[in-house]
Amino acid sequence: MKIYETKDYQEMSRQAANILSAQVILKPDCVLGLATGSTPIGTYDQLVDWYNKGDVDFSQVRTVNLDEYRGLTRDNDQSYYYFMHKHLFDRVNIKLENTNVPDGTQEDAEKECARYEALIESMGGVDIQLLGLGHNGHIGFNEPAADFAVTTHCVDLTESTIEANKRFFESADDVPRQAYTMGIGTIMKAKKILLVVNGEGKADIVAKAFFGPVTPEVPASILQLHRDVTIVADKAALSKIP
Ligand code: F6R
Repeated sequence: MKIYETKDYQEMSRQAANILSAQVILKPDCVLGLATGSTPIGTYDQLVDWYNKGDVDFSQVRTVNLDEYRGLTRDNDQSYYYFMHKHLFDRVNIKLENTNVPDGTQEDAEKECARYEALIESMGGVDIQLLGLGHNGHIGFNEPAADFAVTTHCVDLTESTIEANKRFFESADDVPRQAYTMGIGTIMKAKKILLVVNGEGKADIVAKAFFGPVTPEVPASILQLHRDVTIVADKAALSKIP
């Protein structure tokens, strides 16, 4: 596990974008595993900036997103489909047919999860998976649990995640209660993992997840067992590591 310390959010974003664009340059038709949330927004902004300068070309890139709220339509501004279009897909020359987000409107959870898992497989797997880190150690929507969920599945969101995400909705009541997410096994199959994390509020969970025991109670701790993980974190997020 490589850990890069950056002075602030901006430097974290630039560093993460550098790693992703290096992947695109080395393998123009690579499969990028993407994440939503507030942490990667600066990374996407930086990639868009380099795209506008002619430094990165997304014309052959393929993407798969980690997760999506169950029940939100694509045009709902809180759906992860909407987020990805707003922050990346509509701003670069990626082909929309090469982008994939779980379909939150698909009512048959089992069918949608099986479709998504098979899709990733058919694309040859993920070359590099971008991840954020939840305050409770979740990655994707893999919440603390008794076991690691292996494949793409439907989850009930925990109260702490609903609480953390309510800032994006009118009230906590509007936050969907379920989501489709890649499983821990799906994430662990990615050839490379790039996790971005910033701010003092994540310092405790960074220390726990990457320097504590590997346990499904802290889902991100499993990344200690992946052979190619890069963490790009600002100073504040690393302030409690031993
Ligand atoms: C997003 C995702 C989540 C977030 C995590 C951190 O696709 O899967 O696991 O990465 O909740 O969110 P932020 O970056 O908003 O703190």
